[in-house]
Amino acid sequence: MTKLRFEHRVAVVTGAADGIGRAVAERIAEEGGKVVLWDIQESLLQKRQEELQAAKRDCMIQVVDVSDEEQVKKAFAEAADFFGRIDILVHAAGIVGPTQTKITDYATEAFDQIYKINLRGSFLVCKHVIPHMEKIDYGRILLIASIAGKEGNPFMAGYSATKAGVIGLVKSLGKELAATGITVNGIAPAVIKTPMNSDTAPEQLEYMASKIPMQRFGTVAETASLAAWIVSEESSFNTAFVFDLSGGRATY
Ligand SMILES: NC(=O)c1ccc[n+]([C@@H]2O[C@H](COP(=O)([O-])OP(=O)(O)OC[C@H]3O[C@@H](n4cnc5c(N)ncnc54)[C@H](O)[C@@H]3O)[C@@H](O)[C@H]2O)c1
Repeated sequence: MTKLRFEHRVAVVTGAADGIGRAVAERIAEEGGKVVLWDIQESLLQKRQEELQAAKRDCMIQVVDVSDEEQVKKAFAEAADFFGRIDILVHAAGIVGPTQTKITDYATEAFDQIYKINLRGSFLVCKHVIPHMEKIDYGRILLIASIAGKEGNPFMAGYSATKAGVIGLVKSLGKELAATGITVNGIAPAVIKTPMNSDTAPEQLEYMASKIPMQRFGTVAETASLAAWIVSEESSFNTAFVFDLSGGRATY
């Protein structure tokens, strides 16, 4: 039952060149899904395509900046033409922006940039994938938020605020689409070991790790495992919900 949960399903995964998006795309492909990988890192995307093809997985890659509406719309249309449908969207593209930065030192341009990618990008991918899902009256949308959006990480105002926005989007769209075959959920991870935090200041990482009762960071495999269930057909009575993935940090 769990082996080929995504046979006949087509999944678009954003931020799929690396980190969480990459792990989720690989997991869906392993379980029989056709995957469409989006990212802005073209050479890394090509590498992922080679790896997936070597493993005989069905995939396509698209260089897409999720903050660009025209690119997003066009890429969904091309993916739907290529594979015939879009069943699943996992939106993992995102940036961390400034850390260890007081709001009084936080460049407004840096705030605009993180807003554009993390929140506007989430809005755009939902807006433009939903028409494809409405055609088949089925869909699974998963947005990767963050515990920073629930609790607020100090000195990361842009990241915390945009991730709180992503949580609002999940709750709003989940309810808006609740009577259709489309579900919209989120995951709020604490720290997961990925390239995203390789440049985060050690003091900031230490602060985040110290708040995790399991006393360790999560892995991309653990994230992919939860994500795969949320976007599977089995997960049919959950929508507008943000799942915890925090080693015990969040218990609400
Ligand atoms: N790693 C963590 O600790 C952690 C914790 C909570 C939430 N998250 C969230 O999970 C998601 C994935 O994070 P990750 O840790 O895998 O990061 P990552 O940096 O390893 O991967 C993110 C990917 O998104 C891509 N990307 C960035 N801007 C883009 C754009 N404009 N258009 C398309 N692609 C773009 C990057 O090129 C990269 O491949 C992010 O939304 C992040 O905020 C991560």
